[in-house]
Amino acid sequence: MFSIRQGLRTASRHGVRALSTQPARAAPRYAGAAAAAAGVAAFALYQANTAVKMEGKPTIAGEHKTVSERSFIMIKPDGVSRQLVGKIIDKFESRGYKLVALKTVTPSKELAQEHYADLSSRPFFPGLVAYITSGVPVVAMVWEGKDVIKQGRRIVGATNPLDADPGSVRGQYAVSVGRNLIHASDSFDSATKEIGLWFKENELSQYEPAAWGWIMADN
Ligand code: RTP
Ligand code: MG
Repeated sequence: MFSIRQGLRTASRHGVRALSTQPARAAPRYAGAAAAAAGVAAFALYQANTAVKMEGKPTIAGEHKTVSERSFIMIKPDGVSRQLVGKIIDKFESRGYKLVALKTVTPSKELAQEHYADLSSRPFFPGLVAYITSGVPVVAMVWEGKDVIKQGRRIVGATNPLDADPGSVRGQYAVSVGRNLIHASDSFDSATKEIGLWFKENELSQYEPAAWGWIMADN
Protein backbone atom coordinates (compact mmCIF):
# COMPACT_ATOMS: atom_id res chain seq x y z
CA MET A 1 0.00 0.00 0.00
CA PHE A 2 1.17 3.50 -0.80
CA SER A 3 0.79 5.76 2.22
CA ILE A 4 0.04 9.48 2.00
CA ARG A 5 3.37 10.22 3.69
CA GLN A 6 5.26 8.12 1.12
CA GLY A 7 3.26 9.84 -1.58
CA LEU A 8 4.24 13.28 -0.30
CA ARG A 9 7.92 12.30 -0.13
CA THR A 10 7.85 10.83 -3.63
CA ALA A 11 5.92 13.76 -5.03
CA SER A 12 8.29 16.32 -3.57
CA ARG A 13 11.34 14.37 -4.84
CA HIS A 14 9.93 14.34 -8.35
CA GLY A 15 8.54 17.83 -8.03
CA VAL A 16 6.84 19.42 -10.99
CA ARG A 17 7.72 16.57 -13.32
CA ALA A 18 5.63 14.15 -11.31
CA LEU A 19 2.66 16.45 -11.88
CA SER A 20 3.38 16.92 -15.60
CA THR A 21 0.54 16.23 -18.01
CA GLN A 22 3.03 14.89 -20.63
CA PRO A 23 3.47 11.16 -20.15
CA ALA A 24 5.73 10.70 -23.28
CA ARG A 25 8.79 8.46 -22.88
CA ALA A 26 9.41 9.34 -19.27
CA ALA A 27 6.02 7.93 -18.32
CA PRO A 28 7.03 4.43 -17.19
CA ARG A 29 9.75 5.77 -14.92
CA TYR A 30 7.54 8.33 -13.25
CA ALA A 31 4.23 6.51 -13.44
CA GLY A 32 4.28 5.51 -9.76
CA ALA A 33 5.26 8.98 -8.61
CA ALA A 34 2.66 10.59 -10.86
CA ALA A 35 -0.04 8.33 -9.47
CA ALA A 36 1.10 9.11 -5.92
CA ALA A 37 1.17 12.84 -6.62
CA ALA A 38 -2.29 12.68 -8.15
CA GLY A 39 -3.47 10.84 -5.03
CA VAL A 40 -1.90 13.47 -2.78
CA ALA A 41 -3.42 16.29 -4.84
CA ALA A 42 -6.83 14.60 -4.71
CA PHE A 43 -6.51 14.12 -0.95
CA ALA A 44 -5.51 17.78 -0.45
CA LEU A 45 -8.47 18.89 -2.59
CA TYR A 46 -10.79 16.62 -0.59
CA GLN A 47 -9.47 18.13 2.67
CA ALA A 48 -9.85 21.68 1.32
CA ASN A 49 -13.41 21.00 0.14
CA THR A 50 -14.32 19.36 3.42
CA ALA A 51 -12.95 22.36 5.35
CA VAL A 52 -14.88 24.78 3.14
CA LYS A 53 -18.07 22.76 3.57
CA MET A 54 -17.61 22.62 7.33
CA GLU A 55 -17.08 26.40 7.50
CA GLY A 56 -20.11 27.12 5.35
CA LYS A 57 -22.42 24.70 7.12
CA PRO A 58 -25.82 26.37 7.50
CA THR A 59 -27.20 26.89 10.98
CA ILE A 60 -30.27 28.68 12.34
CA ALA A 61 -28.26 31.82 11.39
CA GLY A 62 -28.34 30.79 7.71
CA GLU A 63 -25.10 30.32 5.79
CA HIS A 64 -22.20 32.55 6.73
CA LYS A 65 -21.01 34.94 4.00
CA THR A 66 -24.02 34.32 1.77
CA VAL A 67 -27.27 36.24 1.33
CA SER A 68 -28.89 33.82 3.79
CA GLU A 69 -26.67 35.03 6.68
CA ARG A 70 -28.68 36.18 9.70
CA SER A 71 -27.98 38.33 12.74
CA PHE A 72 -29.77 38.66 16.07
CA ILE A 73 -30.58 42.31 16.77
CA MET A 74 -32.22 43.42 20.01
CA ILE A 75 -33.52 46.87 20.92
CA LYS A 76 -32.79 47.12 24.63
CA PRO A 77 -35.29 48.46 27.22
CA ASP A 78 -34.05 52.07 26.91
CA GLY A 79 -34.70 51.98 23.14
CA VAL A 80 -38.26 50.75 23.71
CA SER A 81 -38.91 53.15 26.58
CA ARG A 82 -37.55 56.08 24.59
CA GLN A 83 -39.84 55.10 21.66
CA LEU A 84 -36.98 54.73 19.19
CA VAL A 85 -38.13 51.35 17.84
CA GLY A 86 -39.35 52.66 14.48
CA LYS A 87 -36.25 54.75 13.83
CA ILE A 88 -33.96 51.82 14.68
CA ILE A 89 -35.86 49.30 12.54
CA ASP A 90 -35.80 51.76 9.67
CA LYS A 91 -31.98 51.65 9.57
CA PHE A 92 -32.05 47.90 8.86
CA GLU A 93 -35.13 47.92 6.68
CA SER A 94 -34.10 50.78 4.40
CA ARG A 95 -30.62 49.32 4.05
CA GLY A 96 -32.35 46.41 2.32
CA TYR A 97 -32.14 43.70 4.95
CA LYS A 98 -34.94 41.19 5.34
CA LEU A 99 -36.94 41.05 8.56
CA VAL A 100 -37.13 37.36 9.43
CA ALA A 101 -38.58 37.59 12.95
CA LEU A 102 -39.63 40.22 15.48
CA LYS A 103 -41.24 40.09 18.92
CA THR A 104 -41.30 41.92 22.23
CA VAL A 105 -39.91 39.98 25.17
CA THR A 106 -39.64 40.90 28.83
CA PRO A 107 -36.51 38.87 29.54
CA SER A 108 -36.05 36.77 32.65
CA LYS A 109 -32.82 37.01 34.61
CA GLU A 110 -31.84 33.54 33.30
CA LEU A 111 -32.34 34.59 29.67
CA ALA A 112 -30.33 37.81 30.13
CA GLN A 113 -27.54 35.92 31.91
CA GLU A 114 -27.40 33.28 29.20
CA HIS A 115 -27.43 35.90 26.43
CA TYR A 116 -24.44 37.71 27.96
CA ALA A 117 -22.81 34.56 29.47
CA ASP A 118 -19.39 35.41 27.96
CA LEU A 119 -19.33 38.61 30.07
CA SER A 120 -20.30 36.94 33.38
CA SER A 121 -16.92 37.63 35.00
CA ARG A 122 -16.93 41.35 34.12
CA PRO A 123 -17.59 43.88 36.89
CA PHE A 124 -20.47 45.47 34.97
CA PHE A 125 -22.29 42.12 34.50
CA PRO A 126 -24.81 42.45 37.38
CA GLY A 127 -25.70 45.99 36.26
CA LEU A 128 -26.01 44.82 32.66
CA VAL A 129 -28.40 42.01 33.63
CA ALA A 130 -30.44 44.43 35.81
CA TYR A 131 -30.67 46.85 32.85
CA ILE A 132 -31.85 44.17 30.41
CA THR A 133 -34.37 42.80 32.94
CA SER A 134 -35.72 46.23 33.98
CA GLY A 135 -39.29 45.10 33.28
CA VAL A 136 -39.57 47.16 30.10
CA PRO A 137 -39.61 44.80 27.11
CA VAL A 138 -36.88 44.43 24.52
CA VAL A 139 -37.55 44.01 20.80
CA ALA A 140 -35.90 40.80 19.63
CA MET A 141 -35.31 40.55 15.89
CA VAL A 142 -33.63 38.47 13.24
CA TRP A 143 -32.41 40.25 10.10
CA GLU A 144 -31.08 38.51 7.01
CA GLY A 145 -28.90 39.39 4.03
CA LYS A 146 -25.39 39.76 2.72
CA ASP A 147 -22.84 40.62 5.46
CA VAL A 148 -25.68 41.36 7.89
CA ILE A 149 -23.53 40.42 10.90
CA LYS A 150 -20.72 42.88 10.05
CA GLN A 151 -23.06 45.52 8.67
CA GLY A 152 -25.32 45.12 11.71
CA ARG A 153 -22.40 45.99 13.97
CA ARG A 154 -21.71 49.09 11.86
CA ILE A 155 -25.34 50.17 11.91
CA VAL A 156 -25.35 49.73 15.70
CA GLY A 157 -21.98 51.48 16.25
CA ALA A 158 -19.19 51.07 18.80
CA THR A 159 -20.06 49.77 22.29
CA ASN A 160 -19.33 53.14 23.88
CA PRO A 161 -21.47 55.82 22.18
CA LEU A 162 -18.54 58.20 22.63
CA ASP A 163 -16.66 56.16 20.01
CA ALA A 164 -19.65 55.38 17.82
CA ASP A 165 -19.93 56.76 14.31
CA PRO A 166 -22.45 59.65 14.39
CA GLY A 167 -24.56 57.91 11.76
CA SER A 168 -24.91 54.74 13.83
CA VAL A 169 -27.76 54.03 16.27
CA ARG A 170 -25.53 54.47 19.31
CA GLY A 171 -23.74 57.46 17.79
CA GLN A 172 -26.99 59.17 16.89
CA TYR A 173 -29.18 58.41 19.91
CA ALA A 174 -27.05 57.32 22.91
CA VAL A 175 -24.47 58.87 25.22
CA SER A 176 -23.76 56.18 27.84
CA VAL A 177 -22.13 52.74 27.44
CA GLY A 178 -24.52 51.38 30.04
CA ARG A 179 -27.57 52.62 28.08
CA ASN A 180 -26.51 52.00 24.51
CA LEU A 181 -29.94 51.07 23.14
CA ILE A 182 -29.24 48.04 21.01
CA HIS A 183 -27.46 44.72 20.68
CA ALA A 184 -26.10 43.07 17.52
CA SER A 185 -24.47 39.64 17.12
CA ASP A 186 -20.69 39.99 16.83
CA SER A 187 -19.95 36.78 14.86
CA PHE A 188 -21.64 33.93 13.03
CA ASP A 189 -21.22 31.70 16.09
CA SER A 190 -22.84 34.35 18.30
CA ALA A 191 -25.69 34.77 15.81
CA THR A 192 -26.28 31.02 15.84
CA LYS A 193 -26.32 30.91 19.63
CA GLU A 194 -28.47 34.02 20.07
CA ILE A 195 -31.11 33.26 17.41
CA GLY A 196 -31.46 29.78 18.94
CA LEU A 197 -31.75 31.28 22.42
CA TRP A 198 -34.45 33.86 21.61
CA PHE A 199 -36.44 32.18 18.83
CA LYS A 200 -37.96 28.83 17.94
CA GLU A 201 -37.26 27.67 14.41
CA ASN A 202 -40.96 28.01 13.44
CA GLU A 203 -40.88 31.72 14.37
CA LEU A 204 -38.39 32.45 11.56
CA SER A 205 -40.19 33.42 8.33
CA GLN A 206 -39.27 32.33 4.83
CA TYR A 207 -40.12 34.78 2.05
CA GLU A 208 -38.42 36.97 -0.51
CA PRO A 209 -38.83 40.76 -0.30
CA ALA A 210 -39.84 42.37 -3.61
CA ALA A 211 -36.54 44.21 -4.17
CA TRP A 212 -34.32 41.41 -2.82
CA GLY A 213 -32.70 40.62 -6.17
CA TRP A 214 -31.84 44.27 -6.83
CA ILE A 215 -30.33 44.80 -3.37
CA MET A 216 -28.38 41.57 -2.91
CA ALA A 217 -27.10 41.06 -6.48
CA ASP A 218 -23.51 41.45 -7.62
CA ASN A 219 -22.08 41.81 -11.11
P1 RTP B 1 -23.90 44.11 22.74
O1 RTP B 1 -23.40 42.71 23.02
O2 RTP B 1 -24.99 44.53 23.68
O3 RTP B 1 -24.28 44.27 21.29
O4 RTP B 1 -22.71 45.14 22.99
P2 RTP B 1 -21.22 45.07 22.43
O5 RTP B 1 -21.02 43.76 21.71
O6 RTP B 1 -20.97 46.31 21.67
O7 RTP B 1 -20.35 45.11 23.76
P3 RTP B 1 -20.08 43.91 24.78
O8 RTP B 1 -18.65 43.96 25.15
O9 RTP B 1 -20.65 42.63 24.27
O10 RTP B 1 -20.91 44.40 26.06
C1 RTP B 1 -22.27 44.08 26.21
C2 RTP B 1 -22.98 45.26 26.80
O11 RTP B 1 -22.55 45.44 28.13
C3 RTP B 1 -22.64 46.80 28.48
N1 RTP B 1 -21.32 47.28 28.90
N2 RTP B 1 -21.17 48.06 29.92
N3 RTP B 1 -17.98 49.33 30.98
C4 RTP B 1 -19.26 49.15 31.04
O12 RTP B 1 -19.94 49.61 31.89
C5 RTP B 1 -19.86 48.30 30.03
N4 RTP B 1 -19.22 47.67 29.06
C6 RTP B 1 -20.15 47.02 28.35
C7 RTP B 1 -23.11 47.55 27.25
O13 RTP B 1 -24.53 47.67 27.30
C8 RTP B 1 -22.72 46.61 26.15
O14 RTP B 1 -23.49 46.83 25.00
MG1 MG C 1 -21.53 41.91 22.53
